Amino acid sequence: MFRVLFSLLGIIALILIAVALAYAIGRYRRKKLVEKTLDFDPGTALRVSYYELRQATEGYSESCLLGAGSFGSVYRGTLNNGRDVAVKVFHLHLQNAFKSFDVECEVLRNLRHRNLCKVISTCSNPDFKALILEYMPNGSLEKWLYSDNYILDILQGINIMIDVACALEYLHYGYSTPIVHCDLKPSNVLLDEDSVAHLSDFGIAKLLGEGESNAFTTTLGTMGYIAPEYGLEGSVSTRCDVYSYGIMLMEVFTRKKPSSEKFSGDINPRSWINDSMPNAIPQIIDSKLLVLEEEHYAKKLKCLSSLMELALNCSTESANERMNMKEVVVALKKIRFQLLGPRPE
Ligand SMILES: *[C@@H]1O[C@H](CO)[C@@H](O)[C@H](O)[C@H]1NC(C)=O
Ligand SMILES: *[C@@H]1O[C@H](CO)[C@@H](O)[C@H](O)[C@H]1NC(C)=O
Ligand SMILES: *[C@@H]1O[C@H](CO)[C@@H](O)[C@H](O)[C@H]1NC(C)=O
Repeated sequence: MFRVLFSLLGIIALILIAVALAYAIGRYRRKKLVEKTLDFDPGTALRVSYYELRQATEGYSESCLLGAGSFGSVYRGTLNNGRDVAVKVFHLHLQNAFKSFDVECEVLRNLRHRNLCKVISTCSNPDFKALILEYMPNGSLEKWLYSDNYILDILQGINIMIDVACALEYLHYGYSTPIVHCDLKPSNVLLDEDSVAHLSDFGIAKLLGEGESNAFTTTLGTMGYIAPEYGLEGSVSTRCDVYSYGIMLMEVFTRKKPSSEKFSGDINPRSWINDSMPNAIPQIIDSKLLVLEEEHYAKKLKCLSSLMELALNCSTESANERMNMKEVVVALKKIRFQLLGPRPE
């Protein structure tokens, strides 16, 4: 009798130990898995070979070309597992291309935000470097602004600019040290299938050091969007991104590029908009966005005036007078709320 009881107890104890062990191993494995996917390391994460990439992009054919970034060309491709991706191939003969690849890996490896373009993997050999990024089916903001087949209304424009502002707020304040994108413009804002905006191309981004509020560089962003202190002295700070953001905000609602022939000599986007404040706003706004006879004209006009005022506040000549991205996010959400009224979204 006792012998049976003891052996039963023994068996139960053994089973309990086995279960506990299995659980512990499972947890350990899961933890490892999580660590692996979070601690993305360009060397060890999902490996995509040079040959797979070449096949995926049909040998980097013209028909797969999506566009050009600061140091490379971007192709559309489909990996062997069926996933659509964007492949950014660095032009290594360009000066600073190696450094640019490293910076972009560094930034994208450490950052995670809904409004940043995600890197899936990298392919790196001494004479070939590529980043494999999430594919964005709705293309760039540039395309949405300037092709006739695509139209953004005021609300979509505001939502996209809120996405971009959130991405910048995260870069400026969400990481251990501030990161300056340095090349903010519509072609670097990509839209996914739900039209959520993702900031891309960190090829010339600057990581500021501990307690450092600005740095110096000789690599310049794009004319028309770069802040005066950056263009003239190479001085880079988070306020440079705010300036470019202000210029982009003007562009989205006026559909006028800073490089447009409209602007020359003393006339630039800032002076043009400043001169039309507050009464001549309807003359500068994209004519598709504001039609005199339409419903809610007054409300839309007020919203657009606030947007242009915000854009001017972001792009003041003096860096110290510019708003910061936290303030911009708050201001934009307020403007959107005024447009929509107290309705649930
Ligand atoms: C682009 O975004 C729109 C929403 O604005 C969506 O309806 C459409 O399906 C998207 N296009 C593609 C190709 O995903
Ligand atoms: C904007 O316009 C005001 C006058 O309305 C002028 O005093 C100011 O200097 C202008 N600012 C810029 C940046 O052009
Ligand atoms: C722009 O700046 C002025 C002066 O600081 C402020 O009164 C105004 O509310 C700002 N406008 C917006 C839209 O943020």
